[in-house]
Order: sequence, then structure tokens, then C-alpha cells
Amino acid sequence: MDLTLSDEHRQLRELARRFTDERIVPHAARWDREEAIDRDLVPALGEVGFLGLGIDEKHGGSGGDNLAYCLVLEEVARGDSAVRGIISVSLGLVAKSIAKHGTEEQKQRWLPGLTAGTEIGCFALTEPGTGSDAGSLTTKATRTDNGWVLNGRKVFITNGTWADVALVFARTGGPGPKGISAFLIPTDTHGFTATEIKGKLGMRGQATAEITLDDVEVPHDALLSEEGFKLAMGALDKGRMSVAAGCVGAARGALEAALGYAKEREQFGKPIAGFQLVQELLADMAVETDAARLLTWRVADLADRNLPFSTEASMAKLYASEAAVKVANNAVQVFGGYGYIDEYPVGKYLRDARVTTLYEGTSQIQKLLIGRALTGINAFV
Ligand code: CAA
Repeated sequence: MDLTLSDEHRQLRELARRFTDERIVPHAARWDREEAIDRDLVPALGEVGFLGLGIDEKHGGSGGDNLAYCLVLEEVARGDSAVRGIISVSLGLVAKSIAKHGTEEQKQRWLPGLTAGTEIGCFALTEPGTGSDAGSLTTKATRTDNGWVLNGRKVFITNGTWADVALVFARTGGPGPKGISAFLIPTDTHGFTATEIKGKLGMRGQATAEITLDDVEVPHDALLSEEGFKLAMGALDKGRMSVAAGCVGAARGALEAALGYAKEREQFGKPIAGFQLVQELLADMAVETDAARLLTWRVADLADRNLPFSTEASMAKLYASEAAVKVANNAVQVFGGYGYIDEYPVGKYLRDARVTTLYEGTSQIQKLLIGRALTGINAFV
């Protein structure tokens, strides 16, 4: 599927395709097995500008609009969704929040390193007891004469053990979403500990961590926003678009692999692609992938025209994540027994896709957000 793209968009997509084929595809299975992406991939992503998309050039960014961002994420996720996740979090959730809400000093301190990939960011919102109900988080930040002291625990934090800066959401006021502020915490601050979570079902190359903040003292200028919850929700709107773009890439990768295999694999004296039931599997995969892409590009288009896009981002994320799971599952079906071993990529597509219906807001949360927008009735109260 294609729509009219500018020459710039096409060139960028071509660059992302080449980068993915050369730097990601040959290593993705090993990173998955070893549960670690080669760390030097991150500055390489910075060098080609993929970690600076949407950020002003004066802060090290490479510019580009939201559609450009989606095109790159689709290609990267076709190679490895875990790599896409590193970009979505370090650039999409952290650097873009700093670019939007930070002081000039905060931008100068963090953006050049994050966009170059010499530094990495993580987004520390989720806690052991607060996942979907993010507004009830309990990590506490207390004001002192010298700044702030933070105490609490975060969990399932993508990039957690690799990060140089953590965007930490902590309670500075009363209960509920209004009492939450956002802080930029250098991860080498005394009392900040990140412990890697091993044994994930998918996205195994990513450094996912549990974080403990034990009397972490930071100066006043670590505060990014006193309206931390709104900052988080705004970041997650774009985050959901980026997850959706990644799901499109993973679905496309699974479809391409299944198509190739179905044309080669012979049973009953002919390629299995010639069987109607296999064609049905492939046709469903193609429709799901294209529908997910169209929903995702609609979000990018709205955002690029400065129009509201939160509900459309929920729709895209909901649809694309569920589609990625279905498409990858169909791909395993086409591969048969060979889909069940890690010599072929389709099992990994399925395992990696599974988390996308959970993180950055579960499918159920997306449905309730869409329902709230449709009806005006808030199911969360
Ligand atoms: N943009 C800006 N502001 C927003 C907003 C948005 N999209 N959504 C809500 N707000 C504002 C509201 O306007 C409201 O402000 P006012 O009181 O001034 O009107 C305030 O934020 C509170 O909003 P809600 O009443 O909607 O708050 P809630 O507690 O009912 O939120 C929820 C409910 C939508 C379920 C929210 O908690 C949510 O999105 N939960 C899912 C959490 C999530 O996605 N976690 C992902 C973790 S991060 C991650 O996965 C990253 C990773 O490492 C991979």
C-alpha cells in the first residue's frame, strides 16, 4: 500500500530500509536470544538522524514531521520491534517531552546527547501498583532547600538500565492526576538503581528495568513540569502513534516472510501459496496491515496539521497492536512447524507484538478512551 509521499519522505524511507536491512535484520535473532541489542546501534541510529526526528536542529535534531517519524519506525520495526521501542521511548517520550516542556538549559543539557544516541532516555511512569491507573502513582518528590528528594519504585521501564536520564513522574501534591510532577533525573544520581528484568516473552533485546529511587536528591532545575500527568498523557498520545507505526512494520515483516515462504514451500506437489486456505491467511494479513497503516498515518496527518489527535491515536494503537498479533500469528500458521523455531523470524514477530496490546495503555484502556470521546461518559470514575 502506498499514498502520495513527498520526495523527502521517500528518501527517508529508503534510508530507513537500507539501515534496517544492513544494521538490524542480520542481528535481530541473536539480540533476541542473547537478550541484548548491541549497544553501539544506538549512536548509529543517532548518526542517521533517526533519534532526532521532530527535534529542532539547533538542539541536535534532524527535523521532519510526524509522517516521517512513522515511516522510519515502520521500517525499523520490520527489522526489530525492540529497536523501534528504543527510539519510541528515548526520542518519542523523553526527548520530545524535553523539547516541548523544557527550559533552554534543560534542552541544551539533554537534547544533543539524546538525539546523537550518545545518551539514552527512559520514561518512568508505571509502578508496581499503578499501571492503567497512572494517576494514582505513589512515588513521592519532597521539596527541600536545595531542590527535591524522590522516593519510590517504577517497573517495566524500557531502556531502564541503559538510560542516562530518566523522566520520572512523582507526586508533589495531593492525590490523583493533579498532584503529579515530572522530573529529569540523571541516572547516576546517588540512590537511583535500575535492575534489568530478564526473561520477557518478547522485546528481549531491550533493557527493561525495575527502578528504585531511594532518597534521590536533585536540584530545583530537575523539575520539568508541575503538570506531570498532562505531560505524560500528551507524550503517550504521540507514543501510541509510534507504537502503532511499529506494529505496522512488524505486521509487514511477518506478511513478507509468510508470502516468501508460502511461495517456496511445496506440499501435495505444489507451493502452499496455491492453496485457498493459505491465501485466505495471507489476504487477511495484508488487509489488517494496510488498515493499521492508514489509521496510523491519519494520526500523523492530524498532528502535522496541529489538529487534535488523541482519540485517533487510541484507535490506531488499538487496531495496529491487535493486528500485529493476528498477522504474526497467521504467519506462524503459514510457516507451520518452522514458525515455531527461532531459525525463522515469525515466532519473534509474534512474541514482540504481544506486549504492544499491553504497554502505552492496554487495548481495554484504548477502548475506554475511544468510548469516552464518543459518549462523553467517563468510565474511569
Ligand atoms: N493530553 C493532555 N492532557 C490530558 C490528556 C491528554 N491526552 N488526557 C488527559 N489529560 C488531562 C485531563 O484533561 C485532565 O486534566 P483536567 O483535570 O485539568 O481536565 C487530567 O489530565 C486527568 O485526566 P483524566 O481525568 O483522563 O485522568 P484519569 O486518571 O481518568 O486517566 C487514563 C485515565 C486515561 C486511563 C490514564 O490513566 C491512562 O492513559 N492510563 C494508561 C497509562 C499508560 O498508558 N501507561 C503507559 C506506561 S508508559 C510505557 O508503557 C512506556 C514504556 O516504557 C514502553
